[in-house]
Amino acid sequence: MIESPRPPAERRRRQKVSVGRPGQIACGQNRERQAEDDCPGLAARIAAAAILNDIVARSHPLDECFSSGAIVSRLGGLDPRDIALTRSIVTAALRRLGTIRAALAELMEKGLPRQATYLEWTLIAAAAQILFLDVPDHAAVDLAVRATRLETKNAPYTSFVNGVLRNLIRAREKILLESDPLNHDTPVWLATRWRKTYGEAGARAIASAHRNEPTLDLTVLSDPLLWAERLGATILPTGSLRLSSHRPVTELAGFSDGGWFVQDAAAALPARLLHVGPGTRVADFCAAPGGKAAQLAAAGAEVTAIDRSAERLKRLAANFARLNLHADVIVADIAALKAPPFDAILLDAPCLATGTIRRHPDIAWTKKPRDIPALTALQARLLDKAVELVKPGGMIVYCTCSIEPEENEMQISALLRRQPGVIRVPIMPDEVGGLTEILNESGELRTLPFHLQAADSRLSGLDGFFAARLLRCG
Ligand SMILES: C[S@@+](CC[C@H](N)C(=O)[O-])C[C@H]1O[C@@H](n2cnc3c(N)ncnc32)[C@H](O)[C@@H]1O
Repeated sequence: MIESPRPPAERRRRQKVSVGRPGQIACGQNRERQAEDDCPGLAARIAAAAILNDIVARSHPLDECFSSGAIVSRLGGLDPRDIALTRSIVTAALRRLGTIRAALAELMEKGLPRQATYLEWTLIAAAAQILFLDVPDHAAVDLAVRATRLETKNAPYTSFVNGVLRNLIRAREKILLESDPLNHDTPVWLATRWRKTYGEAGARAIASAHRNEPTLDLTVLSDPLLWAERLGATILPTGSLRLSSHRPVTELAGFSDGGWFVQDAAAALPARLLHVGPGTRVADFCAAPGGKAAQLAAAGAEVTAIDRSAERLKRLAANFARLNLHADVIVADIAALKAPPFDAILLDAPCLATGTIRRHPDIAWTKKPRDIPALTALQARLLDKAVELVKPGGMIVYCTCSIEPEENEMQISALLRRQPGVIRVPIMPDEVGGLTEILNESGELRTLPFHLQAADSRLSGLDGFFAARLLRCG
């Protein structure tokens, strides 16, 4: 997808962040606003705790919590620096939620006071700062205590919060030493699945990769050498540009000229596998917000971009306008789509998205195993529709950003059994920059978060992506 500008850097261990700045306004209530005026950085901590609750307890996606709509509800009055601080706290807490919860549980013999409201999130937000961000300990503790005092039901527990967090500081080295990415920071159901699919070493490597901050990858519309030089980027073997910059992407050279767009290097591979060019009528099924559609349009194809979300298609239209590209855009449920056959179809199916946990650490905690049957049923319907609407002799590329086999390898095996007129066309190493480790024995693409290691760990990793290329024979 065309990804949104990223929050500032989160370091693997202790990220340098500002504690807060004078003159901030808190989340609404007068009492909070007054407290915030007296106490810089408090509003960001209150917002971080509230957003963590929204994400983990209510399954709100991280990006939505920081979208313009949500800024009104949780981040109203915070300036961009405090919003960035809030996001750093939330992201660090989500990346290491298991470690934080286990450490706090160890320190709270009797558990959380039953009468307290959301106190767990205040403690988790403070623990994320103490363990993983470069915030002075006294500021993390003091602001958590102040936030506790502001909530009537929590006010009696300020000494409790103070005591737990001071003990956490004392135990920090031991906690960090013993923290295990697979056993602590991966939900049990995902760890069990990944052990089964990728073995102990594979599952461990995936979980370890989730601790790293993802790189900033760009897809250029033309002239990668020029853009690499202008941006100080590395050109990857797959053709994407990679940077470790943490500046907002809108400030990078070429953003407003539409020279490039943000797209993980793995996400950039599926569209290329169709090899479309001028004169090809290609449909992008599930197109919004439009990263892969932009690649197809940039290759000169006549693109029909279809998605059922009118809202997300607005983002596609805005992205296409910035990139000076054209597509016919249709809002439709593809399962019920009627259209003349296309020369080629790209189907980037809705999925569990477990390949993108590095970028979206909320996914580990918001997605559930019960989501899988509905997703695989929808993917099968969309695949059958793609077979129906591609011309005989036409190619389909099916892809997902999930690393779960039911949505990928098993989905394609089932399709090939169901549709005898469809064959798999293996992807060749030279189509993926010679990276043989990202192709499986059937010639399907299978990238994992620990792939594409570089000497500099800040330039390592890929999103987990799957793609299969199919030909409708008759
Ligand atoms: C993985 S995202 C697509 C990302 C996009 N291809 C890109 O590269 O930017 C999946 C998309 O599928 C769309 N979608 C889900 N079910 C659909 C359906 N039945 N018909 C059409 N679109 C659907 C969602 O609205 C969402 O935009």
